[in-house]
Amino acid sequence: MFTTKWLKLFGIFSILALVLAACGGAPATTQPTAAPSQPTTAPAGGGKLEIFSWWTNGGEADGLNAMFDIYKQQNPNIDIVNATVAGGAGTNAKTVLKTRLQGGQPPDSWQVHAGKELTSYVDAGQMEPLTQFFKEQGFDKVMPPKLLEQITYNGEIWSVPVNIHRSNVLWYNIKIFQENGLTPPKTIDDFFTVAETLQAKGIIPLAVGGKDKFETPHLFESVLLAVFGPEDYAKLFQPGADWNDPRVRQAAEIARRMLEYSNSDRSSLGWADAAQLVLDGKAAMTIMGDWAHGYFISKGAKVGVDYGYAAAPGTEGVFMWLSDSFGLAKGAPNPAQAKAWLALCGSREGQDAFNPKKGSIPARTDADVSLYDEYLQYSIKAFGSEQLAPSVVHGAAAPEAYMTEYGNALNVFASDLDVDAVVEALQDAAKDLK
Ligand code: GAL
Repeated sequence: MFTTKWLKLFGIFSILALVLAACGGAPATTQPTAAPSQPTTAPAGGGKLEIFSWWTNGGEADGLNAMFDIYKQQNPNIDIVNATVAGGAGTNAKTVLKTRLQGGQPPDSWQVHAGKELTSYVDAGQMEPLTQFFKEQGFDKVMPPKLLEQITYNGEIWSVPVNIHRSNVLWYNIKIFQENGLTPPKTIDDFFTVAETLQAKGIIPLAVGGKDKFETPHLFESVLLAVFGPEDYAKLFQPGADWNDPRVRQAAEIARRMLEYSNSDRSSLGWADAAQLVLDGKAAMTIMGDWAHGYFISKGAKVGVDYGYAAAPGTEGVFMWLSDSFGLAKGAPNPAQAKAWLALCGSREGQDAFNPKKGSIPARTDADVSLYDEYLQYSIKAFGSEQLAPSVVHGAAAPEAYMTEYGNALNVFASDLDVDAVVEALQDAAKDLK
């Protein structure tokens, strides 16, 4: 079998590398200061592996389970503890994780966004560097440099990316659009024209959640991108960014108008509930990352038939990106088992099992594209050709402390729609940019 052969081959290479290193013939890329090598293939014995994530909804949970299935085949004697805490974007999970880490009870490996989010755990001394492991596995050769940058901090690599997601996607109900002679809105102005037509027909134009406390912040990052364009948007999250720029207010006004075209029960719905409203034909559109695609697939819906996709209004040609990755806890109770998990996360087999279900594209450049559907093949091309912008809500653009402040400001706004107040709160939050 491919897997077994791969593992054997890898074993031989690891031994060769060790022998070479022992003889002083290590390749120039080997860093003598890196942590000592640990076994990277399946640990011989049994034991336990605890994986912490917030993947509980259709699509994301299916992807995770697909990887667990492979792990169990490769390591039949290891029990996987699937420690999930429900709540999109990990708003709840991160709180639980923080308590565990502070209490010295880390899971072996946890889901963490590549980019600035990662740095908070590194700064707190809660993660092990993975530079040497990464090289041993050859992951540095098969992941794009722009992604490697996102997981490198203080000269070390800290996590293994499993995917790349797009945040700025407009999902829409094809039947509703056809029946009303509409095309997906390309610009913000188009959006309001379409929304007005739909509302006049008694259809909720935009489905928005709020229960998981990331949905309005998520909508707002797409609006910021539309208003500022990719270069100026990215500058908003650099230290010293100018949030007094009048375009911040303009974005807040747009977001307020958009929310006025949305369902009034926002605060009691999660992102998947909002996606379901679109699927059920109760709402026409939702702006959500492409984990919504994974959700739709899990419900048996067909892209291009039941639902369509377009760039969020005003963001065509820009791919707002983020990457889910897994790291190794400092003091992990089961480090060998965790390394076998990380090896799977970065492998082609693992990623090609996970991503087609998750609704994301592989972090590796050598994936088997034929396994990915129409939307994902489009997305793979778009990632390679469009301009990139980092998602703030999903950890790529700014550190955790800032994300929390930004999120709080937008969640208050989700219920009071007070433009003055949100602008002020965002200006205040900018002090946490590092
Ligand atoms: C994001 C994460 C995605 C998806 C989403 C909704 O932060 O990167 O993988 O899980 O939250 O839960």
